Amino acid sequence: MSGVPVRVESVSKTFGSGSAAITAVDDVSIELGGGTVTALTGPSGSGKSTLLHVIGAIESADSGAIVVGDTTITSAGRRELAAYRRHVGFVFQRFHLLPALTARDNVIAPLIPDRRRARGAADRAMELLASVGLAGRENALPSQLSGGQQQRVAIARALIGEPGILIADEPTGNLDSANGTAIVDLLLALNAEHGTTLVIATHDAALASRCGRTVTLADGRILSDTGSATGTEMAVADAL
Ligand SMILES: Nc1ncnc2c1ncn2[C@@H]1O[C@H](COP(=O)(O)OP(=O)(O)O)[C@@H](O)[C@H]1O
Ligand SMILES: [Mg+2]
Repeated sequence: MSGVPVRVESVSKTFGSGSAAITAVDDVSIELGGGTVTALTGPSGSGKSTLLHVIGAIESADSGAIVVGDTTITSAGRRELAAYRRHVGFVFQRFHLLPALTARDNVIAPLIPDRRRARGAADRAMELLASVGLAGRENALPSQLSGGQQQRVAIARALIGEPGILIADEPTGNLDSANGTAIVDLLLALNAEHGTTLVIATHDAALASRCGRTVTLADGRILSDTGSATGTEMAVADAL
């Protein structure tokens, strides 16, 4: 897996209509280089989740264009979007694990609709759980794991499709600072090792500062864009 670039051009997304309409993302344009790490900050309600959801094709944009790697998701058909979603990793603040499934089966779950890829998935899930520090906990249910461990399972699940981009929406928001730091270490190591493009929404200034580039939203618009993108792309540029 290597990092895919993202281009967002004049994207808007409004919820509701008439006097109740809320423009959550308001004419946002942004480019993320393949293999870069970007923090997305801004107060609650500023549009971070909505922007991440439209990039991840969880929600559709109303207008504008989003190109991720080879896919123009804003004009893609259903089949193309389904294929795209399998190659995007998404990590949520509240983990969203299935409570009745073991850690291993939660990691495999995204592959179940695709029987061909599901073959061999159990072995791959065990490897991924080991790589996030959960070797030996494969058969634990989410309720038997700490918050930090549950988020590790969620990260392993996000990686099962070998994504070129990992989108994390406040991944440390429900964790204490030690567990939060460990999760960020894990995400940054993933970027360093595989070049996975990372976008991380966060309220945490310390976390944002570790990402190099920080894009700040306010009322659905980009308020500032500071620092240069770090990540493997820069490391390569520095080496040349
Ligand atoms: N599904 C939805 N329906 C209606 N309004 C929404 C929905 N999702 C988000 N919003 C509104 O859009 C704005 C941006 O929300 P969100 O993207 O969740 O911001 P953030 O993640 O920065 O807190 C907020 O005013 C929020 O209430
Ligand atoms: Mg949010």
